[in-house]
Amino acid sequence: MTERDRGIPNRKPLVMIETGSASMLPDIIMSPRLLPDAKERDYFLVVDNKFGNTQFPMLVKRFQMAGLRRPKGIVVPEGEEAKSFKTYENVINLLEQSRANRSAVLVAVGGGTVGDLTGHVAATYKRGVPYIQVPTTLLSQVDSSIGGKVGLNTEGGKNTVGQFYDPIAIVIDPSFLRTLPFHEMRSGWAEVVKYSVINPNFVEKIDFNKMFGEDLEVDLDYIQDLIKFCVKTKQAIVEKDPYDDGIRQVLNFGHTIGHGIERDAKISHGDAVAIGMVLESGLAVRRGLMSEALRDDMIFLLVDAGLPIVPPQSVRPDRAVAYMENDKKNDGSINIVVPGEGSNKYSKFSVSADELRELLRPPLRTS
Ligand SMILES: NC(=O)c1ccc[n+]([C@@H]2O[C@H](COP(=O)([O-])OP(=O)(O)OC[C@H]3O[C@@H](n4cnc5c(N)ncnc54)[C@H](O)[C@@H]3O)[C@@H](O)[C@H]2O)c1
Ligand SMILES: [Zn+2]
Repeated sequence: MTERDRGIPNRKPLVMIETGSASMLPDIIMSPRLLPDAKERDYFLVVDNKFGNTQFPMLVKRFQMAGLRRPKGIVVPEGEEAKSFKTYENVINLLEQSRANRSAVLVAVGGGTVGDLTGHVAATYKRGVPYIQVPTTLLSQVDSSIGGKVGLNTEGGKNTVGQFYDPIAIVIDPSFLRTLPFHEMRSGWAEVVKYSVINPNFVEKIDFNKMFGEDLEVDLDYIQDLIKFCVKTKQAIVEKDPYDDGIRQVLNFGHTIGHGIERDAKISHGDAVAIGMVLESGLAVRRGLMSEALRDDMIFLLVDAGLPIVPPQSVRPDRAVAYMENDKKNDGSINIVVPGEGSNKYSKFSVSADELRELLRPPLRTS
């Protein structure tokens, strides 16, 4: 079997964004261009013990109906615990006990945590096996499943250990979002707003009223188009800078300050990114690196989404900034990357810990 047959890293993945596509997963797998000898392979569905597990029976049935081998389930803890060394070790042990060989295919069905873990397992088990991403949260559909970044958390921080390892396919089915809890949907909205600043061409298309999850309203046609737009925006950036040396860092917009606030004040990722984007744009406006109009349009969208635009009272500037200083993307000074005017533009600047502490201290300033 050649490297190519196994689904080597950085082979361009097939991306399908289609309502109902998850139920077509076996057909996608059997398409001759994707995997040779699909019927001879073993499949492992990696799911979390909360949402993913509920999808397992339906997927097993589909695989069997298509004449593929009965997939085995690997159930991992829900949330960031999925990205721990312990879970990683357990999954590797399970693969070994099941005598998974190098033709085995891993399929991640879940949010970004399941995807990041599965990708890291796939990249390392027997020095690389193919895997498929089936993202089920808005955040994973518009962001984490694209671009091949996979990895684990350490005690010291998030995504400390990882690599670039592309899946062979990314199958995005917006109908999963029907059951997504509202606060998870909102986390995805913050990333959608991030893309709208990076690529302002689709600001006007954003309508949060069409994107409520969990038994509220989800307009699947609308959301499918929106996901396509976000994915296209991310793909174009990743293609230009696959290893995160330049323009790809713009995808981190809002996250440097956001992560610090998220860890210190224990608020959701989406809320933290929203606040982070407002504060980082404020710093950029101050330096003449972003127009006030761009910043204000973004704030308008965040308010429309009901996302916060100022840090919570509970934030402790010293602690939050200490987390930012530990961020792996910073070497000494704290670097911020913000989008510029036009889809290919970005600005990078460094900021002192003092300026950041000042920014987080009441009375709050956003520019
Ligand atoms: N690799 C990358 O480029 C990249 C980019 C951004 C974020 N990330 C990572 O993504 C992770 C966050 O991902 P996430 O926000 O998807 O979180 P998650 O995977 O923890 O999922 C959030 C919750 O939603 C549940 N869930 C998933 N799909 C559901 C559905 N359709 N209906 C109901 N419940 C559902 C899950 O069980 C979980 O409880 C973080 O670890 C972050 O570091 C990675
Ligand atoms: Zn994010």
